[in-house]
Amino acid sequence: MSIERWGTVDDYVDGLIVKPDMALQAALADSRAAELPPINVTAGLGKMLHLFARMHGAKRILEIGTLGGYSTIWLARALPEGGLLISLEINPQNAEVASKNLIRAGLDRLVEIRLAPALETLPKLEAEKQAPFDFFFIDANKEDNSEYFRWALKLSRPGSVIVVDNVVRKGEIVNSASTDTAVLGTRRLMETVAAESRVTATVVQTVGAKGYDGFLLAIVN
Ligand code: DHB
Ligand code: MG
Repeated sequence: MSIERWGTVDDYVDGLIVKPDMALQAALADSRAAELPPINVTAGLGKMLHLFARMHGAKRILEIGTLGGYSTIWLARALPEGGLLISLEINPQNAEVASKNLIRAGLDRLVEIRLAPALETLPKLEAEKQAPFDFFFIDANKEDNSEYFRWALKLSRPGSVIVVDNVVRKGEIVNSASTDTAVLGTRRLMETVAAESRVTATVVQTVGAKGYDGFLLAIVN
């Protein structure tokens, strides 16, 4: 089975059921035009995040890793009026592209982008008493995933949901000889989750237009 077929199925399902609208398509077009790396979530996984947040009734969402704001749009659309999504981004160009994409999508009143390294912003969110968040989406540099997960837990409440993107990486997470820092970071995340009695978690493997990967899904007990 080929990656081409996975992509073709994504295209088929996107056209029939996922149906990303103009604001989402324009967000990707402008991300490409600004030469952001094409590592946004697929439409199908973006809509899955939207559905998770809606199923959960999330009112406060924390995203780590904004990129061009594509997943941010899907997630913010799950918020009720008066909800809030705070999205952490280290790169000023990404933040600028994302900010414009969110304005075009009519979501800027619900979203705050914090431009700084996430590990600097996270303690500030705690000091500002922004916690608890109902829903977390971690999708930034993989090297710090274990620390991001610990921070999510710190800023959570019982029942909060934590999703971490890209935890399978073409199956590389089972390569214990890997020297790829992203794989090593992901394996550290897995060990953190394994040792953490305060969460109940699983990993779901995925295929699609972006190939073979997966996400971690956890709920805080
Ligand atoms: C990479 C990062 C991502 O968040 C993603 O979804 C795919 C790839 C990367 O850094 O290679
Ligand atoms: Mg990702």
